[in-house]
Amino acid sequence: MGNSDTGSLKRVLQIIALSLSFLVTQNNGKTQWNKMFGFGVVLTYVLLIYFQTVVGIWRYKNTLEEKQLFIVDSNIFLEYEGSSFLEWKYPEDCDVNNKGSSHAVMWCKTPGFHAVKPLVSDVSTEKEEERHIYISDSFFRLAWYAVIPLLRNASERDSQTVRIWIIDPNQADEAEINNTAKSPSDYFRYLTKRLLVGGEFAVLELSSFPQTIESYFTNQGFWEARLFDDHEYHHFHIISQSVSFHGKSVASSQHVFYGTSPEKPYGDKEVSLRLTTGSPMSIVWGACTPHRALLLSDKGTFMTKNAFLSYKEIKVNPGELLTPDEGYYIVSDAVVLENGSIFRIGDALFWRDHEDGILRRNPVKLLDEGVKGLSLRTHCADHYPLQEFELATILAWTDHEIYKGGKSLDWRTNSSYMSNILSLPTTATILTAAFGSHPASLSALVMYTDSVQLSLLTSYENEGIWRNRTLWSKNVLQGPFQMLFVSAAMETLLVWNKDTMLYSFHNDSEWRYLQTMDSSSISQEASGSHIHHVVMDHSRNMLVKMENNVLFFCKFGMNKLFRLPTWNDPERSVVLYLNQKEQITMLTMLDTGLHVQKYPLQMEIRSAMRGEVHGCPYIGFTHNMNRPVYYIDKGEGVELWAQIVNHEGENINVTLSRNKDHVLHITESTQFESVHHLDTTNKTFTIYQDADYRDITNNSDLIWNSSDIVSMELLPTQIDNSCNLPKHRISHFFVGCPPNRHIRVIKPQRTPCQMHTFDNYTIPGFVLSNSSKDLLVFYDWKSFGCVLRIHYKDEFRPDIELYDGETFVRSVDADFIVWENYNRKDYYFNATMRQVACLHEAQTWKSMLVDEKRPEEAWGPHNYRSCFVDNAEKLGNLDQPYEIMNRSSKNYLSFSEEHNAIYVFNLKIVDPNYSFCDLRAVFAVQTYGISMVDQLLTHYKFLIPFFISLIILCFIFYKYTSIFRDMLHKKCV
Ligand SMILES: *[C@@H]1O[C@H](CO)[C@@H](O)[C@H](O)[C@H]1NC(C)=O
Ligand SMILES: *[C@@H]1O[C@H](CO)[C@@H](O)[C@H](O)[C@H]1NC(C)=O
Ligand SMILES: *[C@@H]1O[C@H](CO)[C@@H](O)[C@H](O)[C@H]1NC(C)=O
Repeated sequence: MGNSDTGSLKRVLQIIALSLSFLVTQNNGKTQWNKMFGFGVVLTYVLLIYFQTVVGIWRYKNTLEEKQLFIVDSNIFLEYEGSSFLEWKYPEDCDVNNKGSSHAVMWCKTPGFHAVKPLVSDVSTEKEEERHIYISDSFFRLAWYAVIPLLRNASERDSQTVRIWIIDPNQADEAEINNTAKSPSDYFRYLTKRLLVGGEFAVLELSSFPQTIESYFTNQGFWEARLFDDHEYHHFHIISQSVSFHGKSVASSQHVFYGTSPEKPYGDKEVSLRLTTGSPMSIVWGACTPHRALLLSDKGTFMTKNAFLSYKEIKVNPGELLTPDEGYYIVSDAVVLENGSIFRIGDALFWRDHEDGILRRNPVKLLDEGVKGLSLRTHCADHYPLQEFELATILAWTDHEIYKGGKSLDWRTNSSYMSNILSLPTTATILTAAFGSHPASLSALVMYTDSVQLSLLTSYENEGIWRNRTLWSKNVLQGPFQMLFVSAAMETLLVWNKDTMLYSFHNDSEWRYLQTMDSSSISQEASGSHIHHVVMDHSRNMLVKMENNVLFFCKFGMNKLFRLPTWNDPERSVVLYLNQKEQITMLTMLDTGLHVQKYPLQMEIRSAMRGEVHGCPYIGFTHNMNRPVYYIDKGEGVELWAQIVNHEGENINVTLSRNKDHVLHITESTQFESVHHLDTTNKTFTIYQDADYRDITNNSDLIWNSSDIVSMELLPTQIDNSCNLPKHRISHFFVGCPPNRHIRVIKPQRTPCQMHTFDNYTIPGFVLSNSSKDLLVFYDWKSFGCVLRIHYKDEFRPDIELYDGETFVRSVDADFIVWENYNRKDYYFNATMRQVACLHEAQTWKSMLVDEKRPEEAWGPHNYRSCFVDNAEKLGNLDQPYEIMNRSSKNYLSFSEEHNAIYVFNLKIVDPNYSFCDLRAVFAVQTYGISMVDQLLTHYKFLIPFFISLIILCFIFYKYTSIFRDMLHKKCV
């Protein structure tokens, strides 16, 4: 229904009502008539009251639709939608180009709130709604313009070039506003150049991971930067420097570009998917990929891959299924995955692959009957440090069972996509299920036939243990229910039915009703309409949208909702969508198609709260807990701070809440300062883990390797609707082995380390501990690395460093052991147990290998006992070599003095309190310095006595022969 139609209809209804009431007063004798007329009057008045609450709808926006650009002298576009518009009413400090036009441009000369409203001719039907538009006097009046001139296919993985220049939104032309301009206009080229000369440059920060990208200024008058990203989109921030030109600076901004993918047109085989006629639209989007969304309406199902810059109707090829009589399928729910969508049609799930668009029933054992609901993950788990465990992306439930499914489905395989995670007895009925506050948690709202209360079952997906908590009585609230878990360290949720909302804080320690400002019910406040859906951004700004498009707002955690000014016609079908920049977008289904419009939430909140008591109890709240995941290894800790600034006397603080108490310790210290009636509280939190793993004897491997994840959240102790909350407040603390943590043996600086100097070598059998045969070794240069050339008389102690990937962490001072890879035994330790001051006999390779175990397993953190800990063991023989090394000990390795040798040493850290990781390294040593003769001498020393005897024998023989010859000679003469 058009708006002029609505206006005239109201007038017609008014006339009918008046004439009816006139007739009624005239005919008070005739009861039959009276009844009929009475009914008519009531009906008409009901309708009238309904329309009376309808206000003349008006909206506003600025040029770039950015909240920070509502500034002094900037253009604000006013737009009235209705039939009886007269003119705009605005304050003296502002000007309007054409106040009699329903589409006018306004600009204000002073900062502050400016009351604006349209004046209408027919006040009886159209209420004028006043807004208080807040204009700031920020000097950030210029904006970054970014464009990717050649936006290529999403599947191509090469780099793309982004061009960046500076624009003044008030002077931008249409192409710059709709982001189609490829090069700057003369004026903006000049403006950009002037700011460049002043020191401005574009710093690009990728939003996916903290990385800045260099940009360079080209002679065409703009910056260029290369974006390497194999995602479907490029999302970056452009950070400004503090440079100004004529008092104007550039506001930092966010930009998102999406890859394009060609769309195949549909043939006539494909049919639509629709909600039942008259149902309100619904929308789902991926928690990690919000640009990919599916909109369900009674006109069809629409899909976007670029946050509704464009969208396309999703139709299906019925394939082997029957085409429904209606000519379209009636869907009730849908979820969108990486490679396709799942639809709930009737009580079965169907798969539509993005690739071929064919609708399939029951591929990969997709649930085929009894499905009551379907839900998609609400909090992105991409950064959640659960290794080798894929968290669920969808949940589907029947009356008594819950199933989960992953992020993509391959219909060609035989393995089942969904797996059962909960089966309840028939006395329990699942009312709804949802993903929890925590990335790994799941939840179900359950009703037991023998109980008057509703229960909430919650579980950590990776643990699989369901905890049951009893909630309110089921008489209080009637279903159907919906749940939304708020991203938080402790389970925090919203539950609602058609008319009422409840919320719970901190693992159900508080259950409260959400009420409107005047304590009436939500439904009542919205002229009897029902709750349609709820949207919440990362800063906990929550919007409750009613079916008649009335919007309520609150900062989640407050128990009062307040109504925002009307933004859309109550008759229209509207849904709210939150894009990657956390902007609310209003999607309106019109006869002409989908209308996509940004909604200036912050401006509307400010306008609605003006004049009411909504002082935020603090002025500023900042913290440095900005990483999604912190890794905490044994003995490590993280120090964080959070600062809150408030007016003197407000009793406010910061809390760090967490979902598990037993894993990490937290100590706090507070710095407090009060200057000029402003209190500053800076709280420092030290988070550490200090379990002692030395005494664990049984099940040691299990406990020794155990890791856990603790989620923590920083929040002020009090908040209010008008408070700014930082977007990032939750971090996960992974207690365990950090990814890619390893040790490296440092190559001593003056010791040459050579590569590829030989291929093979032979170890003589007599230096091997496990055989007496010579061993030919092919040296593996790739895994063992270079060989350290060490003089045979030198002693050597490896120094070790700890690394996370390529990042140096620290030098290792823990105890470690070494063993030769090929079982050489011709290396020695120079210190004895007594020399290193052992309190009792230390462990040795000999004692550890008694059970003929492999050296890799025989000795390690799980069974290591330090000889410096007095554990009442017998003293033993302290004159044996001490075989454990440490950075600070005087224990060194010494090598064979008989022959030059090549050793490949394995090294392992044995201190059980050092790390959750299995820290090992390999290093190789080649000794030199023993001459060939020496080696021969040593090798053949057993021959020496033989040679000496031989020489003596020869000598004797010679002497003998000469004497004999002499004698002969004398005889003959
Ligand atoms: C964007 O601006 C250009 C240039 O004025 C115009 O040709 C184009 O139609 C506009 N596109 C949209 C989507 O408004
Ligand atoms: C809060 O205190 C910590 C340590 O005491 C300090 O490093 C940090 O900079 C302080 N925060 C602010 C905002 O001053
Ligand atoms: C060992 O290496 C040498 C040269 O480095 C080569 O001549 C010889 O054939 C190798 N021995 C074997 C058994 O491969």
